[in-house]
Amino acid sequence: RRHLLSLADLEPWEYDIILQTSASFAEVLSRPTPKVPTLQGRVVAMLFFEASTRTRNSFELAAKRLSADTLNFSPGTSALNKGETILDTAKTLLAMNTNLMVIRHQYSGVPHQIALECDRLGTGVGVINAGDGQHEHPTQALLDLFTLCSQSNTKQPSLASLQGCKIAIVGDILHSRVARSNLYSLRAAGAEIHLAGPPTLVSEAWENLGVRVHWQLAPALQDAKFVMALRLQKERMHQHFLPSLREYHREYGLTRERLSLCQPGVKILHPGPANRGVELTSEVMDDPDLSLVSQQVNNGVAVRMAILYLLSTVRITA
Ligand code: CP
Repeated sequence: RRHLLSLADLEPWEYDIILQTSASFAEVLSRPTPKVPTLQGRVVAMLFFEASTRTRNSFELAAKRLSADTLNFSPGTSALNKGETILDTAKTLLAMNTNLMVIRHQYSGVPHQIALECDRLGTGVGVINAGDGQHEHPTQALLDLFTLCSQSNTKQPSLASLQGCKIAIVGDILHSRVARSNLYSLRAAGAEIHLAGPPTLVSEAWENLGVRVHWQLAPALQDAKFVMALRLQKERMHQHFLPSLREYHREYGLTRERLSLCQPGVKILHPGPANRGVELTSEVMDDPDLSLVSQQVNNGVAVRMAILYLLSTVRITA
């Protein structure tokens, strides 16, 4: 099987292959003609059942930089509206000789279900989870990892560079598929992970995974080298959610003043889309000395090129 559905079982050596392959493609992308013929003749189908700006465009550009052909599926203009099922939609695209499928869905497990069907049919097609419900978002965590490791060594980023490094993850852990994937990758790296947020969004149960949970921001930020802010997923909260966005910002919003608790030279990450003035101030988000947000987006193309390439040629994970 050739799927990337979860980071739960990825081995450290597999992360290093992904990091090194991403660095090679980042070099390709820095050339005047940033394109290689690696996946010429291959077809990458993008099935985004849920909204996306970064992930969808990044995968599309990654596939094009590798010279693959892309199929774009939009639920609103598809035969789903005539009652066709998700599996029949996937089978329709498989019949067009699709080689890889990139799938985002609002419900957890949809990419897994389609991967099972691809395996059952013996297609050899690889399925990539581009974010499923509240479950996982593996390629976001991999581009976050690449961004973090590249801070130590741009040309040869390695997992070992994060060993013992204090990383705070602040915000809506409860609803975040990004947080779960990040926990797997950062744990594999041996990072010291601190989660912070209100009790309604960060459960003590996370401590069973070997991380520290804080319901106050200061101890999480104290001496942190990196701080990852997570979006408050308003669409998954009811009207009277505690805390309100204003209350959240008052207690947990990342401001320049609060970040002075961190290590000098601290860097901020956010997977986007961000609620400015809630998770962090615009002053923090737009400060190029502080914020890695644009670098995350930029790195996403190289990392997704690496994933498309590796899944096309060698087995990453079952
Ligand atoms: N980070 C992320 O998944 O962004 P999009 O929803 O824009 O793809």
